[in-house]
Amino acid sequence: MTQHEKILILDFGSQYTQLIARRVREARVYCEIHPCNVPFEKIKSFGARGIILSGSPFYVTAADAPMVDKKVYELGVPVLGICYGMQLTTHLLGGAVGKSAYREYGPAKMSCDTANPLFSGLSAEQDVWMSHGDRIDKAPDGFVTIAHTENSPVAAMRHKDKAIYGIQFHPEVAHTPNGSAMLENFVYNICGCKGDWTMRSFIAESVENIRKKVGTGHVICGLSGGVDSSVAAMLIHEAIGDQLTCIFVDNGLLREGEADKVMSAYADHFHIKVVKVDASKLFLGKLAGVTDPQAKRKIIGPAFVDVFVAEAKKIPNVKFLAQGTLYPDVIESVSFRGPSAVIKTHHNLELGDLLNLDLIEPLRELFKDEVRALGEELGLPKDLVWRHPFPGPGLAIRVLGDVTEEKLSILRKADTIILDELKKSGLYDSVWQAFGVFLPVKSVGVMGDERTYENVIAIRSVTSKDAMTADFAQLPFEVLGRMSNRIIGEVRGVNRVVYDITTKPPGTIEWE
Ligand code: XMP
Repeated sequence: MTQHEKILILDFGSQYTQLIARRVREARVYCEIHPCNVPFEKIKSFGARGIILSGSPFYVTAADAPMVDKKVYELGVPVLGICYGMQLTTHLLGGAVGKSAYREYGPAKMSCDTANPLFSGLSAEQDVWMSHGDRIDKAPDGFVTIAHTENSPVAAMRHKDKAIYGIQFHPEVAHTPNGSAMLENFVYNICGCKGDWTMRSFIAESVENIRKKVGTGHVICGLSGGVDSSVAAMLIHEAIGDQLTCIFVDNGLLREGEADKVMSAYADHFHIKVVKVDASKLFLGKLAGVTDPQAKRKIIGPAFVDVFVAEAKKIPNVKFLAQGTLYPDVIESVSFRGPSAVIKTHHNLELGDLLNLDLIEPLRELFKDEVRALGEELGLPKDLVWRHPFPGPGLAIRVLGDVTEEKLSILRKADTIILDELKKSGLYDSVWQAFGVFLPVKSVGVMGDERTYENVIAIRSVTSKDAMTADFAQLPFEVLGRMSNRIIGEVRGVNRVVYDITTKPPGTIEWE
């Protein structure tokens, strides 16, 4: 692998650690997050231009507080401690950390020394975001104070001769408006990085690595129509062209026209070899009469694996399975109960094992927003890159109760109208997901002179950052009204439309 400049972020369990990484990468400097307790040898051999120590929910004075080997300060590499990272630096290098009279949480006005490279180019008064209980009572010997707030006499410090810095506030959060500029100052002015890690350079490097790894072998990749698998496939195609075959399983649970769209985008437009397997009958047959949501999932997951494996075995000389695994799935996280390294298991390992194939995961170093930028750089259409997430079990978990071809057909038409009106209103990109749900109830209506007794469609639309929590989207009534009128007017079999105003928690985004 080509050696590019890198920053090492040591994680002490802060909820913001990933944000630090995002900000550093926005400065076009590659960085990785590792648990604070990785062996010192690994820290040394990482080849970092700079090391950032994250925040933590711990008090540095607590018995079980996570520590780092003191030798990190002697590597001759710049170190920046953020919040807990600063307290730890103070504690380890002989300063005094004490409890603040009260927990300082929220915005603060900070006065800083703009002659210092960390704050250069900024004004002397800065708005910063604080979140700490401990504070620095006395900086370690050899350190000078370079910023203070009313409550924190040492809001930032640096060593007189060595590039060791500590800041009490969080530069990585949006509430510190110039935080990104300060992190840029650290990586450029203090660590000497140039900032040449761009999506272009990432593509060049990945293409080289994929070619080297694959040789003359063949790669298969499951396409779902979602962003991650699409970008992974495009990148691999860029590297090895026809040595890649994608498999697209139509499970009969996709949205209107989706299978055709996927096929035309990849096969016709990008000239990627795609095998489409029409397995609708198989899936719908297995789902017949099944009403329990988890039972549906337990049918769909294994059926997908069976179909995929059978198809993959037809392709000769296959050595690799490509997957769109992202960085958040592979970061070893520090658990809040102590800095024990936990590796999250990822869901798709099974396919590689079943087929006895090596994995190629070209996105495993990237965050979601970087995957989107990469997709745009590779020429994927915007509407694919910015697509809402769509669940693996598809419409089967949006037709409540038993799934039939007729109900799916009604839901597809309603769902198309919902998305169409949302896009026309310009609000598609501002919501996390929007879709229709087919309810297993009938209600009475009147159309013309006739009494109707038909189905109900629920519209679900939420805002969210990560799907862990969500709020119902406050769509304008005019937009909801247009969706409702069109669904009832255009979709036979529906005479009532309702809007779901449940938050998550206690609700979930999907209804099943
Ligand atoms: P919930 O309904 O749990 O959904 O709030 C959170 C996010 O996950 C998606 N989702 C799934 N995705 N397989 C998937 O691939 C599933 O079984 C599944 N269930 C929910 C959902 O669309 C939302 O984005």
